[in-house]
Amino acid sequence: MSTMAAGLAEFVVIANRLPVDRFIAPDGTVTWRTSPGGLVTALEPVMRRKGGAWIGWHGAPDEKLKPFEHDGLHLVPVPLSAQEVEEYYEGFSNGTLWPLYHDVIAPPEFHREWWDSYVQVNQRFAEKAARVARRGAVVWVQDYQLQLVPTMLRELRPDLRIGFFLHIPFPPRELFQQLPWRRQILEGLTGADLVGFQLPGAAQNFVRLVRERVGHKTHRGLIYLPDGRSVKASAYPISIDAHGFEQLARTPGVDARAKEIRESLGSPKHVLLGIDRLDYTKGLRQRLRAFGEIIRDGSIDVDDSVFVQVATPSRERVDQYRLLRDDIDRLVGRINGDVGRIGQQPITYLHASYPREEMAALYRAADVMVVTPLRDGMNLVAKEYVACRYDDNGALVLSEFAGAAAELRQAYRVNPYDINGMKAALLEAITADPRENSRRMKAMRKHVVDHDIDHWATAFLDDLTAPSEPHDKKMRPPGGS
Ligand code: F6P
Repeated sequence: MSTMAAGLAEFVVIANRLPVDRFIAPDGTVTWRTSPGGLVTALEPVMRRKGGAWIGWHGAPDEKLKPFEHDGLHLVPVPLSAQEVEEYYEGFSNGTLWPLYHDVIAPPEFHREWWDSYVQVNQRFAEKAARVARRGAVVWVQDYQLQLVPTMLRELRPDLRIGFFLHIPFPPRELFQQLPWRRQILEGLTGADLVGFQLPGAAQNFVRLVRERVGHKTHRGLIYLPDGRSVKASAYPISIDAHGFEQLARTPGVDARAKEIRESLGSPKHVLLGIDRLDYTKGLRQRLRAFGEIIRDGSIDVDDSVFVQVATPSRERVDQYRLLRDDIDRLVGRINGDVGRIGQQPITYLHASYPREEMAALYRAADVMVVTPLRDGMNLVAKEYVACRYDDNGALVLSEFAGAAAELRQAYRVNPYDINGMKAALLEAITADPRENSRRMKAMRKHVVDHDIDHWATAFLDDLTAPSEPHDKKMRPPGGS
């Protein structure tokens, strides 16, 4: 169903990135590639179903492009200059907010010129949406790169229904308060009618910060603004197109490729798999060390076991990501050098991104999926693995610091900071009775199938478009604030 009329959309998604990146090869050839990250995986099927416009950056600097159709989606590019890519995207979004919102695993940097650029780019996104949205349209703003857009857009277009969803964790108050522009961020978000988070704790955290830092009255998940509006904050754990992944996993091509992958690894007894953006939040170092140690200790045999680690290139010009790449290169080399044998490399490391078919084949080929982030908003790779295990086999080792741990309760849970604990969990998953793994996988698959991406989008959009309570009642919350 299309929601575009007279060039204006009644449903608009705004995200930092479009679902495709414009890639210009050294010889000048232009191609479009799927953008990295879970946000695109999750939102693409929603947009296919609902129609409407997707506003975002097309991934190349200093280029102004006209709106265009791509693979059935209506895409509206927002240009970024090379300086904005450096200051708004690599700087404030990924050098300040990303580490701050992920437990300061890397130290966040605070630079006033990065902030100025963030404000300027957020304003541009808001203005674009104001021009694209039809009267009374629903506009859904995505993620940490665009937290000022809700209020900026409301000022331009008070007729719109505005939602915001944060895909990454919302930090504890103690960390959030380090941000010199904390109040502006909170005020930016309260321009939305509904602010969604991955977990209930994040929503509570946000409401409390708004009460303490901005001074608005609140009651449970509601914030009461002096202009009579109310803002709801709640949790909507994001998911995947579970049916689509399962269908893909069932195709003969994927099945054949999965077999081929195992054979080219030397047909080992145990194939372990990690698939992540190459990001310091993902706990790659800890998991590879744990795997190397269980081989070194003799708990498993290097002839029997292979760890395939796919690390998708990400934010390659940001210093912390460059350092991480070197670090992982060295670690993989060291482990393979220490515990490998001729013709037997315990870790197969691939620094590349692959199409969905290849990912599904990898999921099918893996006996144990290892997802060990130090902090993660959700982690959709964990859900994709579960969706692809249609015969209820395979095991998932999952960090308790991934949002997905709240739902995938039958996974082998680990604290990724505890290397010994992680070694024990890897061994447990590898050596478990297949019936035990099957029992766990069945329960997790049921959850992922019942709580798929449609379930997520419907829950959020139904709440966003539900009529608000009468204003008077809301200004006097029971029991004060
Ligand atoms: O899911 C978090 C997220 O930052 C998304 O907003 C983003 O699309 C994805 O990861 C990939 O990151 P980037 O757009 O910086 O490559």
